[in-house]
Amino acid sequence: MMNFARSEHQIREQFVPVQLFDVCNEAINLLRLNQQQKPVDFINQIDPHFFVLGDAQRLGQVFINLLDNARDASPAESSIRISSRASSTEVWLYIEDQGTGIDAAFIEQLFEPFFTTKDPGQGTGLGLAMVFSIIEEHQGDISIDSPCDKVNQRGTRFCIRLPRHTPTKTNVPALIEQ
Ligand SMILES: Nc1ncnc2c1ncn2[C@@H]1O[C@H](COP(=O)(O)OP(=O)(O)OP(=O)(O)O)[C@@H](O)[C@H]1O
Ligand SMILES: [Mg+2]
Repeated sequence: MMNFARSEHQIREQFVPVQLFDVCNEAINLLRLNQQQKPVDFINQIDPHFFVLGDAQRLGQVFINLLDNARDASPAESSIRISSRASSTEVWLYIEDQGTGIDAAFIEQLFEPFFTTKDPGQGTGLGLAMVFSIIEEHQGDISIDSPCDKVNQRGTRFCIRLPRHTPTKTNVPALIEQ
């Protein structure tokens, strides 16, 4: 137990101010490199002023996994929108697709390791388990609304809540120049 507590603490000691807009853009650029996947329109509407204290690479994995899942579930040429809102202490991120939606019977199991509805060889079922633990490391939480389009019974929206970091003059000079 002591070891566990120490390693959690060590993880957070390495946290730095991370701009969520940037991390999301990098994930989108990576996903666009894979030309074999169906074309979808990733729309990054995250407010560039929203920062968290964290690990940019790990947070990038969150976006990659959620956007990859969203694309798998979406029809070609549809849009996947990433948006945000914040209070003085918290940031909320929304990842919303116009895809198949998720069967109510599956929702409870989604974050369990190895839960997948994909064909063998198509998915390991580890993506959302990893997302869950990264968000936990960052002292946030994640929830799902699906189908989020109640009229057409389709679409999924993931919502992530994270503690907000407000950069000061000393820790993010780039922001002052804007
Ligand atoms: N946006 C979404 N729309 C519909 N279903 C989804 C969505 N996101 C996740 N799912 C469902 O959740 C399951 C688990 O997702 P998860 O990312 O953990 O594993 P996976 O995508 O199947 O495999 P991988 O390990 O390659 O990510 C998926 O198989 C899919 O059924
Ligand atoms: Mg996945």
